[in-house]
Amino acid sequence: MSTPIASQIKSAAKSSDGKAPLVIAHRGASGYLPEHTLAAYAFGYAQGADYVEPDLVMTKDGVLICLHDIHLEGTTDVEERFPDRGRADGRWYAADFTLEEIRTLRAHERLPGRFPGGKSSFHVPTFSEMIELVQGLNESTGRKVGIYPELKAPAWHREQGLAMEKTFLEVVESYGYKGPDAAIFVQCFEAPPLERMREMGSELPQIQLVSGGQASEFLSAEGLERVARYAQGVGPSKTILERDRSIVARAHDAGLALHPYTFRADDVPEEYGSFDEELERFYVELGVDGLFTDFPDAARRFVDAHWE
Ligand code: G3P
Ligand code: CA
Repeated sequence: MSTPIASQIKSAAKSSDGKAPLVIAHRGASGYLPEHTLAAYAFGYAQGADYVEPDLVMTKDGVLICLHDIHLEGTTDVEERFPDRGRADGRWYAADFTLEEIRTLRAHERLPGRFPGGKSSFHVPTFSEMIELVQGLNESTGRKVGIYPELKAPAWHREQGLAMEKTFLEVVESYGYKGPDAAIFVQCFEAPPLERMREMGSELPQIQLVSGGQASEFLSAEGLERVARYAQGVGPSKTILERDRSIVARAHDAGLALHPYTFRADDVPEEYGSFDEELERFYVELGVDGLFTDFPDAARRFVDAHWE
């Protein structure tokens, strides 16, 4: 139910296209369950996300799996299971393991204070399994939730002899994601893979992610104009937008949507009195078109209270 203040905001609130802005379940509902597990994706879906985000890396045998890092040790028990398989730099790379080997790993929470370590049982899913989960839930619930996959480090994968873009497009097309209206956003911090997928004929919606160090490259008027040739939006870190609010109008003028990351109810920046205040700054005052959050339930509640 809307509060009086929410009602006032409701009439003023708008995203660039006038629709309610999007709730993107960042690594699933990763505030509650270990990131990039089927459980976290299902929970994010059930909490009302419009899109569910898998990050993607490749196995040695060329299968796309859902994992944030190119390394496995941050969120799995790979060091105990395969003690001799780290590289000289002391890291265990997903690209050095077959899917069969990765299926033997247990996944666990990355951050302290969230889902307890050693409890229950979680695994690293394939991208196909993630898609089948979301599409299956769409069938069983009648909702139309999209997917928001991120290609992690395509240039590095290329150096390892793994071409992510081709496999990625084959997988999504096999599941019916085709054309500019498909319920998908394809995101990447690197521009060349996004440009390459356009050259390969993909018309899927694309988002150029922007880290702090890339702001001048992608978010100047010229940078945004370049991005608009191959993408439908930009995904900057939220701190970039806090530093320079003029980016919002510039991106919208260039015809680009804005989907900043990452919003965490258990890590609200000091300047905000509550998570709702932070959401209000971005959704309402800045007018972003969606945002990535580890807590889709809170963002869903906020958007539903402020938009028709
Ligand atoms: O993809 C948006 C956001 O997830 C980027 O940051 O590091 O969480 O993948 P990261
Ligand atoms: Ca991501």
